[in-house]
Amino acid sequence: MFLQKSNVLNIKSSKTYLNKFLKIYRWNPYFQNKPWFAIYPIELQTCGPMVLDALIQIKNTQDSTLAFRRSCREGICGSCAMNIDGINRLACLQPLKNAKKSIIIYPLPHMYVIKDLVSDLTNFYSQYKSIKPWLNVKVTFDKKEYFQSKVDRLKLNGLYECILCACCSSSCPSYWWNQDKYLGPAVLLQAYRWIIDSRDNNTKQRLDFLNHKMRLFRCHTIMNCSKVCPKGLNPGKAISLIKYKLLNF
Ligand code: SF4
Ligand code: F3S
Ligand code: FES
Repeated sequence: MFLQKSNVLNIKSSKTYLNKFLKIYRWNPYFQNKPWFAIYPIELQTCGPMVLDALIQIKNTQDSTLAFRRSCREGICGSCAMNIDGINRLACLQPLKNAKKSIIIYPLPHMYVIKDLVSDLTNFYSQYKSIKPWLNVKVTFDKKEYFQSKVDRLKLNGLYECILCACCSSSCPSYWWNQDKYLGPAVLLQAYRWIIDSRDNNTKQRLDFLNHKMRLFRCHTIMNCSKVCPKGLNPGKAISLIKYKLLNF
């Protein structure tokens, strides 16, 4: 009886020591060779619960040359976006526990790679800047606050939560092939956020800027964007609402 019990305990504890493997895309601009894969074992018992924890453990204990971005580890800053097992996700929100034994990690697809898992988001941010993501109001010196009704404020829900992680844009085939001209789902969702802000005075100029066959109408409603958004937002719907607004403004 005792022997049986200890056997059960041994089986349980061996499960907690179960290793996983992270197979990670590597590329270093200072080496002249092609990208390669590096495989790292992870001991779950000594590692935090998320894929980001495993990456940090690898960097601290196995290979300090591995490059990746992270900051908040809370799904708020958007910096740890990468392709994990074929889907764009935030590494800090992706549990290790339920993943396959071997987890495959690439940088965000169809973005230029700076090093390993770090993508170049320069174009993404300059597109964001192009939609003027700030409140445009006529400043009057006697006015200290710009009020908004509760109903108008509710219209921003599902939009203001975007953390600009680029998971959606880098999963959109239209963006893959035309990212020099097409603004992509993340930036268009942000554009819609300012279009429907009741306090903003620039709605017509914003719509005129978007009324363009490449900037907006390159969206073919593929909806990968809405499927992958780690914040549960719906950029595909926001794009449709911009098109509707263009027709009815
Ligand atoms: Fe990331 Fe979602 Fe914003 Fe796209 S819409 S940038 S996936 S938070
Ligand atoms: Fe792309 Fe989403 Fe439109 S995946 S084509 S932006 S609906
Ligand atoms: Fe900030 Fe993952 S580290 S979203």
